Amino acid sequence: MKIIENFYIHLTDLIFGTIFAVINKASFSKIFSHKNSSLVTNGYKEFNNKIRLDELNNILEKISERAKNIKNLNLVGSHDITIVGNEPFSLKSLANNDEVNLLNSIAKDIVTSDPDIENYLGVKFDDLDIEITLLANSNKDIVDGKEGSQNFHRDIYHSFWRGIKIFYPYEYQTNDEYGPFTFIPSNIIQRYENPSLKNYSKANLSSIRFDKHPLITNNLDKAIKLKKHQLIAIDTYNCFHSGGFITTTDNFIRIIFQVVVSPPQTPNRFADITTRHISRMFYFFLIRLRNFLRIRRN
Ligand SMILES: [Fe+2]
Repeated sequence: MKIIENFYIHLTDLIFGTIFAVINKASFSKIFSHKNSSLVTNGYKEFNNKIRLDELNNILEKISERAKNIKNLNLVGSHDITIVGNEPFSLKSLANNDEVNLLNSIAKDIVTSDPDIENYLGVKFDDLDIEITLLANSNKDIVDGKEGSQNFHRDIYHSFWRGIKIFYPYEYQTNDEYGPFTFIPSNIIQRYENPSLKNYSKANLSSIRFDKHPLITNNLDKAIKLKKHQLIAIDTYNCFHSGGFITTTDNFIRIIFQVVVSPPQTPNRFADITTRHISRMFYFFLIRLRNFLRIRRN
């Protein structure tokens, strides 16, 4: 039985990897020969080279000072400041154009500093899509439970095979009440595994995603919490993760700098449904198919 399962796992990985390589014009040999990187084995990799981190800290310090001033203005009535990355905590609201340009150039240097990123996606650096954002959020005045990406989930719409996000928690605390970003490596819950929906209601799935699923709760002791000022790349398409939920009543604002690294074919490219209708349908079909073919676990 184990042999058949292993064969099935390798075959589906090969098929989706091949489709991924073809539609992204990625290097087939790169993505399949590069096996020892911890991105491949565990779904994440910490950056060893601290490239341009002083510059990054400098800008993020200014950004967090501005965020604190906004919080002090107490804009709760006009903005829901608990929503991650929303105004007034979006990158555009908190940084000027020069700073955004500098952050973009730092992000590019970070991505190129480790060839594993390029090898993992098999796409030449120039063809990668690099998007920077802030995961900035604050505590709720009245705590009424986690929402959306604060619960455990995979970024299933970002890919159908592999997808990378780089995180740098700047204004950040690891205590649970300060909402640390947590993820489960892909050697713990495997890429080919999906939580079974047998004893898990659809209502649960839409309200708390997989937060209370036994596959998640039984593996929480092996989950990893991001640390402050840790630069790390995570395959958020394959690793379950939760964005964190702040429950303190102080004026804490959590700021994580995020770099989304995508192959050429990303959901963004299909935004115009009039001209890309067929390829868009194909893309979402692949997403559904990949999830369907994952092995269900309780
Ligand atoms: Fe996510």
